[in-house]
Amino acid sequence: MTSRLYPGRLLLLLCLLHGSKETCPSVCLCVSDRVSCSSSGVTKLPPSLPSFSVTLDLSHNHLSWLGTGSFNGMPRLENLRMAHNQLGSLGHGVFHNASSLRHLDLSSNKLNMVEQHYFQGLWRLEELLLFDNKIAQVEAGTLSGLSSLKKAYFSLNQITHFPFFSIQDHSHPFLTMLDLSSNRMSHLPWEDVKALPGLVQRGLYLHNNSLICDCSMYSVFWHWDLRGYDSLRDFVDEHTCTIYGDPRAAIRFLRHTRFFHNCTVEKALSQPVTVLLSNVLVSDGERVRLDCLTGLSGTDLSFTWLSPSKGYITTASVNDTLMSLFPNGTLEIEEAKVNDSGLYVCTAVDMKQALNATREVNVTVLLPSAESFNTGYTTLLGCVVTMVCILIYLYLTPCRCSCCQPKPPAIPIENYNPSTLTSVFSPSLRDHPKIQANRHVAFMEPMLSGGGTEWTTES
Ligand SMILES: *[C@@H]1O[C@H](CO)[C@@H](O)[C@H](O)[C@H]1NC(C)=O
Ligand SMILES: *[C@@H]1O[C@H](CO)[C@@H](O)[C@H](O)[C@H]1NC(C)=O
Ligand SMILES: *[C@@H]1O[C@H](CO)[C@@H](O)[C@H](O)[C@H]1NC(C)=O
Ligand SMILES: *[C@@H]1O[C@H](CO)[C@@H](O)[C@H](O)[C@H]1NC(C)=O
Ligand SMILES: *[C@@H]1O[C@H](CO)[C@@H](O)[C@H](O)[C@H]1NC(C)=O
Ligand SMILES: *[C@@H]1O[C@H](CO)[C@@H](O)[C@H](O)[C@H]1NC(C)=O
Ligand SMILES: *[C@@H]1O[C@H](CO)[C@@H](O)[C@H](O)[C@H]1NC(C)=O
Ligand SMILES: *[C@@H]1O[C@H](CO)[C@@H](O)[C@H](O)[C@H]1NC(C)=O
Repeated sequence: MTSRLYPGRLLLLLCLLHGSKETCPSVCLCVSDRVSCSSSGVTKLPPSLPSFSVTLDLSHNHLSWLGTGSFNGMPRLENLRMAHNQLGSLGHGVFHNASSLRHLDLSSNKLNMVEQHYFQGLWRLEELLLFDNKIAQVEAGTLSGLSSLKKAYFSLNQITHFPFFSIQDHSHPFLTMLDLSSNRMSHLPWEDVKALPGLVQRGLYLHNNSLICDCSMYSVFWHWDLRGYDSLRDFVDEHTCTIYGDPRAAIRFLRHTRFFHNCTVEKALSQPVTVLLSNVLVSDGERVRLDCLTGLSGTDLSFTWLSPSKGYITTASVNDTLMSLFPNGTLEIEEAKVNDSGLYVCTAVDMKQALNATREVNVTVLLPSAESFNTGYTTLLGCVVTMVCILIYLYLTPCRCSCCQPKPPAIPIENYNPSTLTSVFSPSLRDHPKIQANRHVAFMEPMLSGGGTEWTTES
């Protein structure tokens, strides 16, 4: 590993010859405001790191400790990469005077705890990567003060408790990703989780923990599932819970809901169930049916819709040939008009049990895209589009690959592409199975491929 050739020895020389006022540590490469000391085998922070650095890459080394003010002389430092080291803990004030930091990567280290003081003063920090450590505890105040935080990755640790309560409506206004998957949380403070800001709930990843099945847990996921959160959709099978905490009795609770059959009523008893469906899109003039499926079931339900254009609609008051309300609560709009767009709220009331439940549907009625299809303009437009397509095909073909590449899977860790994490000087492809798997790269570096792909059999 350490005997690898540096692709940029020449650059280093050039850099030094250039006669910058500050010298680059011998184990590092410095180009512009980037300093890379990755895979250089250092066990300590190289002395006299250049003060102009904006990006500092120390990943793939043997750092085991960082002391007070380690980055004190680097006021412009924004990106600090220290993945794949041996850091077991951080001293007080490590990031003292490093408050420009926006991106901090401490993934794949040996941290066993996240102490309150670790990230103090990093109010500009946007991305915090702590996945693949040995973290068992995250102290309550860890995230306080990180008011710019957008994404935090705690996956693949041993966390049993997380201070959800420290994330409140105005404390972290930009937080949209909190990855706590693959940890060891069996009980969550569900009231705190439900109180998280909506954006945080949407980006909260909890799969592959050892959750214990119960109704309060199920109720939370039930709501998220109905809202169609990616965190659930992308990991349906990884959402498991154990019955009575017995690991042998693990069920995939997003697939098998039978066990929670009796939970629905409990849920409705305690509070009205509100479900916001994703947008219903219809074209002008089309018929649309909005169902009123709530947690409530039974034959004695009565339904009321509140529509944006016509106010309250009940079975008794419906006086409109254009709208009908079926006994099962479904509201039908015969010919949707643009004016019918808006938020429809259905309330189902179970008189006998004195239960209410609410369902919301956001309806958007779109104007037809082309008014008349029989005019010459349609044909003309068709011709123009075809021409443009041909031109694009002829001139932009080389870009085809990047355009048509499938969207990367929304696995939270991989969302954060490790290849953007390591700089241009950074270690070989060997360290990145993800890149290695990419045929494109494999083609250019056939030695790295494991073989078995089409083109290797050709040779
Ligand atoms: C670090 O910050 C303190 C104020 O908090 C300042 O007095 C000191 O000069 C700074 N040190 C460096 C090396 O920038
Ligand atoms: C689940 O978590 C364990 C560690 O807790 C990890 O080894 C495993 O790879 C994870 N599985 C998935 C599918 O993420
Ligand atoms: C649900 O409740 C019914 C009757 O109240 C009971 O017979 C049934 O066993 C319960 N189901 C589960 C999964 O607890
Ligand atoms: C229903 O519509 C008719 C005419 O279309 C009108 O005379 C009548 O008052 C309406 N009834 C209600 C309850 O709005
Ligand atoms: C409600 O009844 C209408 C008319 O019978 C039907 O078209 C619709 O699918 C039903 N909705 C649900 C949710 O069962
Ligand atoms: C729709 O809105 C326009 C003005 O915004 C109004 O003139 C028209 O009468 C409305 N149509 C219906 C069916 O309410
Ligand atoms: C149910 O709805 C009625 C009126 O629609 C309201 O008075 C009552 O407070 C609601 N009950 C609950 C539990 O929300
Ligand atoms: C409903 O959908 C429209 C258009 O898609 C969107 O602008 C609006 O914010 C949505 N409303 C709610 C309450 O989600």
